[in-house]
Amino acid sequence: MANNLLAGKKGIIFGALDDKSIAWKIAERCVEEGAQITLTNAPVALRFGQIDELGKKLNAPIIPADATSMEDLENLFTKSMEALGGKIDFVLHSIGMSVNVRKKKSYTNLNYDFMHKTFDISAMSFHRMMQTIWKLDAINDGGSILALTYIAAQRVFPDYSEMAESKALLESFARSFGYHFGVEKNVRVNTVSQSPTWTTAGSGVKGFEEFFGYADKMSPLGNASAESCADYCVTLFSDFTRMVTMQNLYHDGGFSNMGMSPRVLED
Ligand SMILES: NC(=O)c1ccc[n+]([C@@H]2O[C@H](COP(=O)([O-])OP(=O)(O)OC[C@H]3O[C@@H](n4cnc5c(N)ncnc54)[C@H](O)[C@@H]3O)[C@@H](O)[C@H]2O)c1
Repeated sequence: MANNLLAGKKGIIFGALDDKSIAWKIAERCVEEGAQITLTNAPVALRFGQIDELGKKLNAPIIPADATSMEDLENLFTKSMEALGGKIDFVLHSIGMSVNVRKKKSYTNLNYDFMHKTFDISAMSFHRMMQTIWKLDAINDGGSILALTYIAAQRVFPDYSEMAESKALLESFARSFGYHFGVEKNVRVNTVSQSPTWTTAGSGVKGFEEFFGYADKMSPLGNASAESCADYCVTLFSDFTRMVTMQNLYHDGGFSNMGMSPRVLED
């Protein structure tokens, strides 16, 4: 059901790879709610993913950008403003990748070159993105910047490995840059802490299937789907949440406030 919550707004969505990606669902919902968007992903993801299909469906230009390259980011924001006909109103950061997890390194034997790369892609890219927006003065008064995160930033989930620290850094960037964006530009910056979700990035974590079931039982409302995450993000891009900033917002069916659930002990 569309309510035109984003009528007249312009946005940029990072991180739609295929139709399982959380960013894919968010892009679809934003356009349903009346927004005009550009889509972006790393050049390599454009070759292997299905983003072309989404671009056609949503009539959204696709502008490649490696989120670790300042040059690519500048080009992305400049071209997006040209394509959309003015400054943007919202941005979604939906990017995560751990090199050590990919290479199956255990947490007690991490490679630090890989760790640098992981932090750069998964967390520093958020600061890079916000700094580019800041320098180009690319966002309108009342705008909204969001990144997706996970509760491993606060609690220990051993198989999440160095992504836990990436998410802690990402959430801290949201608070620190949120201060500057608030006082000088009247722009919100928040992170949404999402339930485990079946995507390329999600299912790359060891033991994901078992963990997905555990989290589903622990959460009174069950795991939040990518579609419901998209609904929530639409509200955070809309004018109905203009005073919410510098927050880490749990979108997890209640998981984050649970201690124990009898459902976990049932067969
Ligand atoms: N799936 C889950 O269980 C879950 C739970 C909570 C939070 N999240 C977060 O949601 C976000 C989206 O992940 P997803 O689960 O939809 O998986 P996904 O694999 O569909 O998305 C990850 C995206 O990051 C992009 N990316 C990787 N390196 C990049 C680079 N250098 N430059 C630009 N883009 C790059 C990939 O191309 C991909 O589109 C991530 O931040 C992830 O940590 C996922």
